[in-house]
Amino acid sequence: MTKLVGSIDQGTSSSRFLVFDVSGKVITSHQVEYTNSYPEPGWVQKSPEEILSSVNESIDECLSKLDKAGYSASDIVSVGITNQRETTIAWDSETGEPLYDAIIWNDTRTRDVVQKLHAKEGASDIQSLCGLPITTYFSATKMVWMLENVPCIKAAQEKGTLRFGNVDTWLIYKLTGKYITDVTNASRTMLMDINSLKWSKQLCEFFGIDEAFLPEIRSSSEVYGNINVGGLSGIPIAGDLGDQQAATVGQLCFQPGEAKNTYGTGCFMLFNTGASPIFSKNGLLTTVAYQLGPNEKPAYALEGSIAVAGSAIQWLRDKLGIINSAPEINVLAESVKDNGGVYFVTAFSGLFAPHWRDDARACIVGLTQYANRGHIARATLESVCFQTKDILDAMDADSGDKLKVLRVDGGMTNSDIAMQIQADVLGIKVVRPEMKETTAFGAAIAAGLAVGFWKDKADVLSQTKSKDFYPNITEEQRAEMLKGWKRAIEKSLNSA
Ligand code: G3P
Repeated sequence: MTKLVGSIDQGTSSSRFLVFDVSGKVITSHQVEYTNSYPEPGWVQKSPEEILSSVNESIDECLSKLDKAGYSASDIVSVGITNQRETTIAWDSETGEPLYDAIIWNDTRTRDVVQKLHAKEGASDIQSLCGLPITTYFSATKMVWMLENVPCIKAAQEKGTLRFGNVDTWLIYKLTGKYITDVTNASRTMLMDINSLKWSKQLCEFFGIDEAFLPEIRSSSEVYGNINVGGLSGIPIAGDLGDQQAATVGQLCFQPGEAKNTYGTGCFMLFNTGASPIFSKNGLLTTVAYQLGPNEKPAYALEGSIAVAGSAIQWLRDKLGIINSAPEINVLAESVKDNGGVYFVTAFSGLFAPHWRDDARACIVGLTQYANRGHIARATLESVCFQTKDILDAMDADSGDKLKVLRVDGGMTNSDIAMQIQADVLGIKVVRPEMKETTAFGAAIAAGLAVGFWKDKADVLSQTKSKDFYPNITEEQRAEMLKGWKRAIEKSLNSA
């Protein structure tokens, strides 16, 4: 009987369940797409029940495909979870019911909370404790907002029945009844001590969050509990990683100095810095990359986060209507020889790394009557590539070394033109592995290692096939493009 390992990948705009064999091949998968709601400018939310039901639907559909392919659910030895990070959910332990919609990671409603926190005593110590700047992005500010603005959450706090969690915790709670998270997800809350990997009294006090309402922190790879509902009943959940950390594992970036960039709803570059945290002087985050077992040492990473990548393509499709489907952006972008002087700073949720300015606004600059839809399409792809360049420069400055190869994955990497622009803008080789399911594979690796499906990291086969993109423009051309981008960024930063 072939043994398999499962992976739940709960992202910002879809939920997926995938099943891998020991060679890392995807046997079956199913994806359920959904949309978030935007009830006010800057607000992004979603019903936690709908997140859960989309996960359950993806599992059910995938299992029926598995059946048709001649396997069965009982072939699955363990399941890993990977999830959109920072997104915050509150529920009541008595009823198990959510108390409010999930506040999604890119929601900026907490701008006032953030301003107040910046003015508070102790604010300047926060980043050295948790690795993160105080911004709207991370979970703690969302928890503060919920306690201040949602009466039933405050009431549950007083009653002692409040449960806060990120999406991993919510799913594990609903699937196994256990109230836990892993070190990578906890490292995005602002409440975990980045050195001890425990909830920090000082941080919890600063934000006014009681540790009693936070899950237990565990490693990213161990048996947390058995699933007790649906077609996966009896199978252990044994892996838990935030999605960007899972992609780091799935891209096998196990050595210090290796980096990956994932182009999803947002875009996130993680650079493995090894066994100790490095604090950035250039606007990057310090985060836990993975801890593959309770007795294993954690690996840390520097992270450059870009809030908007695929969501800008969605915006062109759903709000501007200049494309009918996401892949059409490539056809349009290829219809022009260059950006025609048009730059698009896609700062819909402010600018994340390295600027961390939640008051920055999106802008399209350089328009003349010459510009057409092709230039806007190209400028959209270029925007993500330029922001990646800003982050790579910060990484190089922090690490004191120049990255020579960038491994890439995620939806936008299907676009050859986007990846060629990326190599041109960065001036280094960009490597796109043939196996594209790196995020889900990372969670599967964690779940597989925990139950001996793979013996150790070296036992996980490395991905040998890839398509490589090499820079194909001159230094002068690159400098010219970057000059235009810098001017556009200034406009976005000064548009508040
Ligand atoms: O930090 C947010 C990130 O985890 C979201 O990932 O793939 O949904 O853009 P993605």
